[in-house]
Amino acid sequence: MESQNPSFDPITDATAKTGEEGSENDVCVPIYSSSEVLGKLQEKWKSVKKIPYPAMYSSIFGGITLDPSLMVIPIDDHMVHRGHGIFDTAMIVNGYLYELDTHLDRFLRSASKAKVASPFPRSTLRTILVKLAAASHCKKGSLRYWLSAGPGDFLLSPAGCPTSAFYAVVIDDDFSQCKEGVKAITSTVPMKTPQFATMKNVNYLPNVLSKMEAEEKGAFASIWVDDDGYIAEGPNVNVAFISKSKELLLPKFDKILSGCTARRLLALAPKLVEQGILSSVGTGDITLEQAKGSAEAMYVGSGLPILPIIAWDEQPVGDGKVGALTLALSDLLWEDMIAGPETHRLRIPYM
Ligand SMILES: Cc1ncc(COP(=O)(O)O)c(C=O)c1O
Repeated sequence: MESQNPSFDPITDATAKTGEEGSENDVCVPIYSSSEVLGKLQEKWKSVKKIPYPAMYSSIFGGITLDPSLMVIPIDDHMVHRGHGIFDTAMIVNGYLYELDTHLDRFLRSASKAKVASPFPRSTLRTILVKLAAASHCKKGSLRYWLSAGPGDFLLSPAGCPTSAFYAVVIDDDFSQCKEGVKAITSTVPMKTPQFATMKNVNYLPNVLSKMEAEEKGAFASIWVDDDGYIAEGPNVNVAFISKSKELLLPKFDKILSGCTARRLLALAPKLVEQGILSSVGTGDITLEQAKGSAEAMYVGSGLPILPIIAWDEQPVGDGKVGALTLALSDLLWEDMIAGPETHRLRIPYM
């Protein structure tokens, strides 16, 4: 059935007329044809000046679309209604995919922990991601991808989801090296147990609430402390500290996400030890008191790669200014992202 008035907005029009919530009869709920639905979805994107999502892959239709209105996931997908899916992100930096293989390895480890079988072997997943990045023409941004138990029914068991699904999207983002310091808070939102924190599954509600708590308190993000009183991580970032005696220390990865950026930092930072800038580099158990007493603190994560923390729970970290060693580590990672060895950067074969 064709609808009569496609520009009618059922909620605002009914409310505008009466000044209050419309009764059941006032609310028009059109039944649209497929082409009308597509038209509606495309209308939304027409008003957007620069479309942020240049390309998406979906195993549901087995290819790439450049039309953002079609970048959708089936509502009966087990990832949508039960959170049965995992994801990862790799950055696109000046036409290269940074650390794609490291992210892909973690992606498959997460999939195994979440009992999601991939519809394709690793090599096919990788080829799809590289071709998607090429088709997007994006030079700077991120590539996000998901493995899901797939569509089927709405039950708790995935037994009715015959084929798992793979989705990926490119997001344009003109990110740059973070040089300004931010505030952090200690999170009061309970952190995930190690079983769930060590896999990058789509259940990020604790992370969202923890980030919101920080923003409500005027901070950039939070820091979790685990049940044993040791520093864990931020809601979508790892954390690192520099002691007064210039030791770089990160929490161990046994109860938190093994951050690809944090791992790369640990691999690169010994260069600063050789140069006498740092005294040592390592991971360990870090108490809240020890962390707060650091000379410098920072968030570490893919899109940053380093973000200096200058205040924590309203108290300055060190002298309350962005630290020189934090900036040296930031330069080290940034240089690796834009001009590092091609074992860690994959040139995107744009078409
Ligand atoms: C909970 C959590 N911790 C840490 C990180 C940092 O990981 P990476 O450096 O791989 O982005 C992320 C982001 O992926 C995350 O979601």
